[in-house]
Amino acid sequence: MTDRKSFDILVLEGDGIGPEVAAEALKVLDAAGEGAGLEFHYHHALVGGAAIDEEGAPISQETMRKAEAADAIILGAVGGPKWDDLPTLERPEQGLLGLRMRLDLFANLRPATVFEPLADASTLKREVVSGIDLLVVRELVSDLYFGEPRGVKSSDEGRVAFNTMRYSDREISRVARVAFDAALRRRRKVTSVDKANVLEVSGLWREVVCEVAREYPDVELDHQYVDNCSMQLIRDPSQFDVILTGNMFGDILSDEAAMLTGSIGMLPSASLGADFALYEPVHGSAPDIAGQDRANPLATILSIAMLLEITCKDAESAGRVRSAVERVLNDGYRTADIIGEGEDPVPCSRMGDLVVEAVRRG
Ligand code: IPM
Ligand code: MG
Repeated sequence: MTDRKSFDILVLEGDGIGPEVAAEALKVLDAAGEGAGLEFHYHHALVGGAAIDEEGAPISQETMRKAEAADAIILGAVGGPKWDDLPTLERPEQGLLGLRMRLDLFANLRPATVFEPLADASTLKREVVSGIDLLVVRELVSDLYFGEPRGVKSSDEGRVAFNTMRYSDREISRVARVAFDAALRRRRKVTSVDKANVLEVSGLWREVVCEVAREYPDVELDHQYVDNCSMQLIRDPSQFDVILTGNMFGDILSDEAAMLTGSIGMLPSASLGADFALYEPVHGSAPDIAGQDRANPLATILSIAMLLEITCKDAESAGRVRSAVERVLNDGYRTADIIGEGEDPVPCSRMGDLVVEAVRRG
């Protein structure tokens, strides 16, 4: 643990179920902090559709400055049907993408672990998902998401829309190092995912990943094309330890990996740069169940465990939160998304309380 005991946290609840899941996560963070002598000071600001409505943009400069001043950021979710007709660059998602870019959060860590009591909640067979423990390391500030030129124009063929897939060697090597470092703390295997049979960008990706791999002789490296990887993830996910991939492929593969765990409501993430860290669930704003106390807060709560481990450098508290989640699931409590036949769901807020109690019991 660091000597630092007090942390400024910027909370960006966002839209839809964002405020509900963020509220439960903060309760858990406080409970974990009490036990470990950690103090958290929360600052709140708007992002996404909420910010568009109140402040006229998906994220304000003021909020960007608050983010830069914080030790960590917790984000709920952004987006919703209300803002679906806005042009791409004015949508709620730009709040999140703008933050990632401004804070240079280039490495997105998305661990997918199957909690044993949930092995039956997956749409895949228990024997396929049981014991899965993989980590997707997704590059987060380049690729098709940010490449220029982009846009829509009129031409002789009618309207033409275009985006640019691009990576520099430096962008590839820095995220590759994050993946290899993570593999050293895990089962020492990296699977790099690309489309090198078709794309120049992927050719460079593969070359640079191989160069970085030479610095890590103890880590095994293999390569998969993205189409094959998406098949392997549901055919035999136990072959994976760390999956290293770009922004666009990582967006798609991480949703797929999430479903192995039973529900996308279970998958946490950390977005890390050299100086900043943002923690958020992988799921979206789920407008269909917003405001009904029916969401699953566990992805955000597990993101809190990542915050404790990475920002507070307190692996013990992080472990306590993860064990608390496991115990609550073992005791049979389920939100609606992970419920089995004939079981009654607990509300979002009750799930948060149960985890808090389990954290306090230690
Ligand atoms: C994610 C989300 C975001 C992304 C959206 C909300 C912009 O899908 O974090 O995976 O595409 O990166
Ligand atoms: Mg996504």
